[in-house]
Amino acid sequence: MCGIVGVVGNRNATDILMQGLEKLEYRGYDSAGVYVANGDKFSLVKSVGRIADLRSKLGIDVAGTAGIGHTRWATHGKPAEVNAHPHQSATKRFTLVHNGVIENFAEIKEEYLADHSLLGQTDTEIAVHLIGKLVDEEGLSVLEAFRKALLIIEGSYAFALMDAQDSETIYVAKNKSPLLIGLGDGYNMVCSDAMAMIRETNEYMEIHDKELVIVTKDSVSVQDYVGNTIERDSYIAELDLSDIGKGTYPYYMLKEIDEQPTVMRKLISAYSEDSQVIVEPDIVKAVQEADRLYIIAAGTSYHAGFAAKNMLEALTNTPVELGIASEWGYSQPLLSQKPLFIFISQSGETADSRQVLVRANQMGIPSLTITNVPGSTLSREATHTMLLHAGPEIAVASTKAYTAQIATLAFLAKAVGDADGNEKAKDFDLLHELSIVAQSIEASLAEKDVIAKKVEGLLASTRTAFYIGRGNDYYVAMEASLKLKEISYIQCEGFAAGELKHGTISLIEDGVPVIALISSDQAIAAHTRGNIQEVAARGANVLVIVEEGLARETDDIKVVPVHPYLSAISMVVPTQLVAYYATLQRGLDVDKPRNLAKSVTVE
Ligand code: AGP
Ligand code: GLU
Repeated sequence: MCGIVGVVGNRNATDILMQGLEKLEYRGYDSAGVYVANGDKFSLVKSVGRIADLRSKLGIDVAGTAGIGHTRWATHGKPAEVNAHPHQSATKRFTLVHNGVIENFAEIKEEYLADHSLLGQTDTEIAVHLIGKLVDEEGLSVLEAFRKALLIIEGSYAFALMDAQDSETIYVAKNKSPLLIGLGDGYNMVCSDAMAMIRETNEYMEIHDKELVIVTKDSVSVQDYVGNTIERDSYIAELDLSDIGKGTYPYYMLKEIDEQPTVMRKLISAYSEDSQVIVEPDIVKAVQEADRLYIIAAGTSYHAGFAAKNMLEALTNTPVELGIASEWGYSQPLLSQKPLFIFISQSGETADSRQVLVRANQMGIPSLTITNVPGSTLSREATHTMLLHAGPEIAVASTKAYTAQIATLAFLAKAVGDADGNEKAKDFDLLHELSIVAQSIEASLAEKDVIAKKVEGLLASTRTAFYIGRGNDYYVAMEASLKLKEISYIQCEGFAAGELKHGTISLIEDGVPVIALISSDQAIAAHTRGNIQEVAARGANVLVIVEEGLARETDDIKVVPVHPYLSAISMVVPTQLVAYYATLQRGLDVDKPRNLAKSVTVE
């Protein structure tokens, strides 16, 4: 949540900050701002709304060699110019951007800043006032004041701080929220993610929690909060700038939906050699040694865990339990003797998942992160990592990452099953089956116009909708309804088809859209057909998405059949398109739905 970018030592500071913010906009987009320093002069410009709104407010005088910028996802105080970052200290000497939540902001205000009047309601403004006060009233140096403030502040943060009396330095610190250093030739940067800096540099340096870093144009000094220097090597990241463009697509979401067959094929080449499935032996061993797999994730990634659960259990012969990351802290089940925690996270930065990982590490529980972002926090801090190879996913609504998550879990399940001599694994030719999945997705993508038309009559003006399905189709229904909700704002429930009659069917009335999913199994399909009759009898407007072998002539969208373990991948694709077209038809921003952010770095 929220994007931070900073640069020092480059004459094009404003351009670099704005380009960076545009790349970071998917992380938060309710307001934005930049602070640009040029010797002893500085400009501070903020705007409510998108980065484009901020850009339109920048005059040519906003130029300099250093600066910090921020795109916000509000946690404290509504999206308004006074709450947009950067924030300044009482005398305006210090300027700060922040990602995260300061938990003891009210106590800090009461204890240290009772006589300070603040412009807005953010927790961040309190932090910068505190730093200013420590310098002005206690006579501390900037570094001492920052360090002291960091010891007082509790919560999550990535901070970038500048001092109007020294435009050559950016002070940064982090705890729980992501932040990276980018090393340039004659200049240095800080940023929430590598992708937003890739135009300037591909050499990065990690910052760990509770480290303070002093960044100048030609030096980077990493310290702990006591002032001890920490040596840290830089690394080169292989990111491709062309991956992060939209090309000729109107929206990233459509581009990412279309990329799914390619992602399936990339996964085949990443996880196979000489037609054999290959997963790192240490990871296979970790699963073999576990007596239970605990999948912990949020949102779409959580749904991917469900979609892979039956396959994982069948092929690894190990029970799988799922946990919503944000709930795990309070309702962790009684753990088995030899647990393995599997974190599924597209971004690798989700704070809810990370708090579970931190605890798992404290408890000595081995862990595996399945993520799209190499070097992300959840990847660095887990024992093992498997990558999704999906390429950057920019649209807030996750599509290709979800299907890549299920496919990656399939590689894991198959590799463990093969190593165990599991009979079901022997019968499951994953490489072949996944290439059929890629073809099935392609066939669905070729039906975009049909899907757009079906959606038009069904979802253009409704307030509510349902997805129903059984077995794996139920898990797809959960994901399909989240997708529809988050971008079209239609209140949608994903329901186990047989469960509807136990209460929720009372919501079905004339014209309520019900989308039924049918795949895999004739007997199960017959039951779902029965449930379709029940809702149709009560006036529901039913759309059926069905695998070809099970289809009836009157069904609406037909999907090329795939192996039942992988049906969630092929069945979800039409539902992604349903969400996309419903949102377009309702005149909404597909890629940046209200109230959301791509990377959820607050708990
Ligand atoms: C997906 O469309 C959502 N934007 C959201 O549910 C997301 O999947 C969730 O926040 C988890 O993110 P992660 O995969 O990056 O951990
Ligand atoms: N808590 C801060 C605010 O509400 C930072 C939010 C963010 O990470 O964007 O402004």
